[in-house]
Amino acid sequence: MKILVLNGPNLNMLGKRDHKHYGRLTLKKINHLLEIKAKKLGVKLLFFQSNHEGDLVDFIQKQTGKCQGILINPGALTHYGYALRDALSDTKLPVVEIHLSKIDQREKFRKIDVLDGIVIKKISGLKEKSYLLGLKILVDYLKKQ
Ligand code: DQA
Repeated sequence: MKILVLNGPNLNMLGKRDHKHYGRLTLKKINHLLEIKAKKLGVKLLFFQSNHEGDLVDFIQKQTGKCQGILINPGALTHYGYALRDALSDTKLPVVEIHLSKIDQREKFRKIDVLDGIVIKKISGLKEKSYLLGLKILVDYLKKQ
């Protein structure tokens, strides 16, 4: 079973971003923790991060058919990325959306989530644990299929 792990704009800067919202771990470290978890769960991960919505769309289109599920932190695209939403929806794969911070308890614009309605689960506010819990939920869902 192969899972795409996607990260949107600015998530390559984790570790240097506001620790209060995003914790202290780098994306490399989070991906390493995900690899350990994936081994335990018996699944393979394919990682991709981009600061460009179109690159994420291209990657998703290329990988559809070669994977069974998607774990994504869309970054700020969460709040306005309609092309990303469509690309995810077009895959017809189960998608779990994750956020390090509590997006519902921050600025007003972060309350808008264009992925609402197309994901099987949204997890936010657990810092790096959001990723690990998200992976577990996605794999459990896929194993039940
Ligand atoms: C984020 C929340 C977004 O609002 C923000 O633009 C990010 C990260 C999070 O993980 O909490 O870049 O997706």
